[in-house]
Formats: sequence, C-alpha cells, structure tokens
Amino acid sequence: MADKSKTSENTEVSEAQIAVHWKEEEYFKPSKKFTEQANVQDPKIRERFSLKHFPDCFKEYADMLTWFQPYKTVLDTNNPPFWKWFVGGKLNASYNCVDRHLAQYRDKAALIFVGEPEEDPPVALTYQELYIRVNEMAALLRDYCGLKAGDRVTLHLPMTVELPITMLACARLGVIHSQVFGGFSGQACGTRIQDSGSHVLITMDAYWRAGKLLDHKINADIAVQTAKDEGQPVDKVLVWQRYPGKYSSPTPMVKGRDFFVNELLAQYRGQLVEPVPMDAEAPLFLMYTSGSTGKPKGCQHRTGGYLAYVTGTCKYIQDIHPSDTYWCMADIGWITGHSYIVYGPLALAATSVIYEGVPTHPDAGRPWRIAVRLGVNIFHTSPTAIRALRKSGPDEPKKYAYHFKHMTTVGEPIEPEAWRWYYDAVGKREAVIVDTWWQTETGGFLCSTIPGIDPMKPGSAGPGVPGIHPVIYDDNGEELQAGCGRAGNICIRNPWPGIMQTIWGDPERFVKTYYSRYTKDPKSKDWHDWPYVAGDGAMQAADGYFRILGRIDDVINVSGHRLGTKEIESACLTITEVAEAAVVPVADDIKGRVPEVYIALKPGFEGSPEVINRIIKANEDIIGKFARPKHVYIVPDMPKTRSGKIMRRVLASISNRRDVGDVTTLANPAVVEEIRTLVQGKEAVISKEAVPDDIAKFGQNE
Ligand code: PRX
Repeated sequence: MADKSKTSENTEVSEAQIAVHWKEEEYFKPSKKFTEQANVQDPKIRERFSLKHFPDCFKEYADMLTWFQPYKTVLDTNNPPFWKWFVGGKLNASYNCVDRHLAQYRDKAALIFVGEPEEDPPVALTYQELYIRVNEMAALLRDYCGLKAGDRVTLHLPMTVELPITMLACARLGVIHSQVFGGFSGQACGTRIQDSGSHVLITMDAYWRAGKLLDHKINADIAVQTAKDEGQPVDKVLVWQRYPGKYSSPTPMVKGRDFFVNELLAQYRGQLVEPVPMDAEAPLFLMYTSGSTGKPKGCQHRTGGYLAYVTGTCKYIQDIHPSDTYWCMADIGWITGHSYIVYGPLALAATSVIYEGVPTHPDAGRPWRIAVRLGVNIFHTSPTAIRALRKSGPDEPKKYAYHFKHMTTVGEPIEPEAWRWYYDAVGKREAVIVDTWWQTETGGFLCSTIPGIDPMKPGSAGPGVPGIHPVIYDDNGEELQAGCGRAGNICIRNPWPGIMQTIWGDPERFVKTYYSRYTKDPKSKDWHDWPYVAGDGAMQAADGYFRILGRIDDVINVSGHRLGTKEIESACLTITEVAEAAVVPVADDIKGRVPEVYIALKPGFEGSPEVINRIIKANEDIIGKFARPKHVYIVPDMPKTRSGKIMRRVLASISNRRDVGDVTTLANPAVVEEIRTLVQGKEAVISKEAVPDDIAKFGQNE
C-alpha cells in the first residue's frame, strides 16, 4: 500500500508517472534472404489476428495440432477470469510432439544433447528413438509408480535429454509434471513437492556445471525430508544416471524408496503406451515462479491452449521450419525451456538442441563451436548470456563459420549496446533478432516483432504478437497513449490460449495478483473488463513498440530468473541472530540485477563474518546458489518511517550509489549516513549514469 504521509520519502510520484528518457534507436530491417523464407510474409496477419477476429483467430494455432476430438467452443468466458480454451476438444501433447511426426520424420533428429565436457561427442535422438524412450518411461510411470491422469509428479532434473523424455512420458499419461529448475536447492524443491502434492520425485544422480560433476542426488534427500516435514510423503524417488549403468553420486540410495530408472526400464523395453486423450482444459504442467509474497506460485498450464499457443508462436515468431536446427540455451527448468525447447519446437518437428552446461565453459568460444558442429541456424538466449559472452570473448564469434538466420533475446531488458553486439558479432549482420517479452504465467510470447515483417529496434520488444493486444494504464487506470513519453503498467486487454489457468490450489490469489487491479466490475462476464496485469513497467513509443522497463512488484530479475525479495528476506530470518532483513536490487553489468541484503541483528548479538556466511548459506540452502546475495551488510538499524516501515528505497539508493534524497523526516535519519558510510566508505559515491527505472521506483509502493 502506498504510504500517503507527506514526507519526501513517501513521494506521491507513482511508478506510472515516471517519465523515461531514452534515445529513440534506429531501425534494422530483416534481410531479403530471411524474409523470403519466413513462415510469416503476409502483413495481413495483424488484421487476421485483430480484435475484430477475436477469439476465432486462435483457431489458426489450434489447427497446427492434431486433435483426437475436435473442440466445440474456441473460448468460454463464463467464469472470468478463468477462461476456457478449445472446449470439448481432446488431444495429447506427447502424441503431438512425437508420434505424429513418425510418418514423415522418423529418422530426423528430434533432440541433440551436448554435454558440458567438450570431449564427449553430442548425442542425437531421432523422433523414432524419442518415441521409444518416451513410451518406455510412460510404461514405467504407469505400471511401476501407479501414476494416472491428473496426478502430479515433481521433476528436479538437470539439462539432459532425460528431462524432456520424462516430461513427454508424463504428458502421454495426462500426469501433470512439475519440473523444478535443477539449480534450486533441495529445500526449495521440497516445498514445491508439498504444494503440488506429488508422491513421486524424479531426479538425476549428477550433472556437469562449470567443469564439476555436481552431486545432485543429495538434493533429493533434502527435498523428500522437507516435503515430509510439511506434510507431504514421497513414496518413490526415481534416479536417472548421468552415465547410465554408473552411479555418479556419493550420496547413498535409500532402500525401498530410491530406484535407478535405467534399471527399472529393463522391464519395459519396447512397451508402447497409448497416448491418453486429454481434455483441452486438462492441466499439462505446473511451473513455480516467484511473486511478491514468500510463497512461490504454481502456474498451472492447460493442455490444448498452451500447446496451440507455443506451437503457433514458435512457427511465426521463432520462424521454425522442420528443416531447422534450433538451439535455445535457456534451461528447461524455466518456462522458456518448456515452451521453446520442448513443446513448441517438437510440435513443429524441429531439431532442438539441449546443452548441459555453462555457456562460457571452457571458454567464450564454446557456443559458437557447438553452433558450427551441429549446424545450428536459430539461436535463442538471454541478455545475461549475451553480456557474459561479450565480456569474455567479444571477438570469438568471427572465428567460427556458423550462420544464424534468426536469434532471440528473452528474459530481461536488453541494453541497445548489448543488442548491437548480438546483431553485429553473433548474428554477423545476417540474422534477424526478436526481443520477446513474456512471463511464466503467459505460456508464450506477448510482445515481439514478427521477424520477416517488422523492423527491429534495439532495446524494444516490439508490438504485441499476433492476437495479443497490450495496453498501458497509469495508476488511476487511465490509458497511456503511444508516444506520450510516460511509463505505466503494461496489461493485456484480451485472453489468449497460452495464459495460465490458475495458481495451483489458490484461485483467489490468481484473481488478485493478475486481474483485480484494473477490473472495473468484478461481476462482469465480459472479457473486456478483465485486463491481465503483467506486473511490469513499460512505455510505448509513437511507432507502437513497447519497451519493457522491469518489475513493478518486489521481484528481482537476476540473470532472467525471478526472485521474490520476500523469499530472500524469509531465508535470512531463519538465522537466529537476525531481527530484520531487507533486500534490494543492485545493477550488475552481467546479471542485470543482483540482490544485496541489509540485516539488523537482535539486541545482544554482534555481527561477524561467520554470521554473514550463515546468512549467505541460508539463501543457498533454502532457495539455491543463484540466489546468493552479492553483499550482506549488518547495519545498526534499518531506516524507517515514523510508522515503522523499512525504507527499502533508501537502501536501494545507497547500494546503487544514488542520492538518497531528503531523509530528515524518517524516524531515525542519522542511521542513513551510518549505513551509507558502511557501504560506500567515507566519501559519498554518486553514480552519474541514468537510474534504471525498476531501481528508481523500488520500494516506492511500500
Ligand atoms: O520483467 C519481465 C522480464 O521477466 C519477467 C518474467 O520472468 P519469468 O516469468 O521468469 O519468465 C522469463 C521468460 C519469459 C517479466 O515480467 N522479461 C521477460 N522477457 C523480457 C523481460 N523484460 C524485458 N524484455 C524482455 N524481452
């Protein structure tokens, strides 16, 4: 809630009123060579997907799938905002991604796995081989684990082919998979097991990361214990082996609970499992993401609408043809990997590359050697990876003779300088770039240029993709016009097939988080009254392109991974000595943003490196190593308003070397200078660079 007291800290300039000044960038045109082969060449696509043709325009995406039973209604809006898509239709996601390609593409590579150790040759799985392996795994899940449609299973798998095989085996049975990013800790996995009500956990013994074979099985033991403590028993832990036939983890297997998948599969050799015809509205998977409270949200995605949407956007925005070798360097443990490594590309019969490790391992030439070796022609990654590759090997791409026709950037705003390096050096001025803005909740892309039609503009995602009609509202619900020079809250006017169904087990939170803010009439049955609130600040230029500025809630985007400040603060508060914790985002050259933590200790306790280390470890154990704070500062007191609220905004200014403004009206103004000295040293350091919008407004709504 906005604190309306008249202090300068509680400024009444709201996020939506901040004017953002940036240079209008020049356009870059897609090459004729690209345009001539593009899946979308007809500019009339926008008319086809205009609101006039809503919702029937999305039949075009549904028609890209094979249905066991045709749907009767494209969109049912009877119970807003719980939309139903392609109602009455039946289909199976595994069938659509595998079986239906066998007639034409049986011997074509579906997946190519590249392990991190460079001496290990890549392994290709044909569609036929994928079919066999998915069927065998489905037989195991059904007959050994007793799983059936509607059950949930938690996966905590690293980036190996066993992950898509397991996902597709679940989908074949209608079992709802909930893959937890491999970098999450055992505890984080355990709380997600509990929330989803899974009885089975599927994991792997070990995986390679930055040159080390990490023990991953140990996380399963912690996860099962955490889930049990929270009231959810896990009966079976299925353990894939990174090197089949060899156990690569020092953590013992638990008798009667843990089983090697490779060994069990021997009983299911050659077994085929009929794909279960699922209702279009049956949940396909859960994907947990951070929000502004400490509890992660299980985004529940439907089978028909989701699959149609990722297939359609893969075809039109990723420009995937079956002849393409496509490499998305994201992790399948995040939504990008689900939609744009597994479901979308496989539904289109593409060849999708899976890389296990760190992009800069053993050096910054690695991605380009992979591209040459596999003949990758579509490349997809994040600004964090682009910045890291640019920093450690700006001239590496030109040493390698690969040719990309298309490249994607996703997950964070990209600075125009980084964009230009991507275009010039990585894309060799041949590749078209799409900057795709979307979210875990949205299933697929929301804003992007259409690659063969629209010019690119560095740093701007572009207009809404076909069928998506974004709008920017200010804090009073007034629409901000394109080119007005003001930032506001970006929303989507209309429902679309890829939007999540609900938050698993918490429909009220779903309505409150994504729809309540701008709903004029909560009883309305008209979808026009229910704009989807994305939680991002954005601005629309006169040409209609959207530039995304960052989160407007308490979510920090670290390397494109969402972290809730409350999650980090709760982790800090598990340390006995900690009385209060406040987390702020700090600009980072590579990762975009990183968290910094301020701690006030309980009376009678003293700060020490040992306490700081325990606080850091608590974050790694409870969330994961990627949540490690950049700094932990133990402060004498938190800067507070007279009503006792911690002024995170002041702390964010100190961490980011910004002017803290007038703090005289705080309850304890003197502490601000003490904290500043602790962080910056005696002399105040003020950065001259423009303040990124999300940092400028961080904590303003408190
Ligand atoms: O703030 C936006 C940022 O990432 C958030 C969504 O994060 P997540 O659910 O983890 O999904 C990441 C992959 C889609 C958004 O609310 N974001 C995502 N893409 C972009 C972006 N910010 C700017 N430009 C983008 N292209």
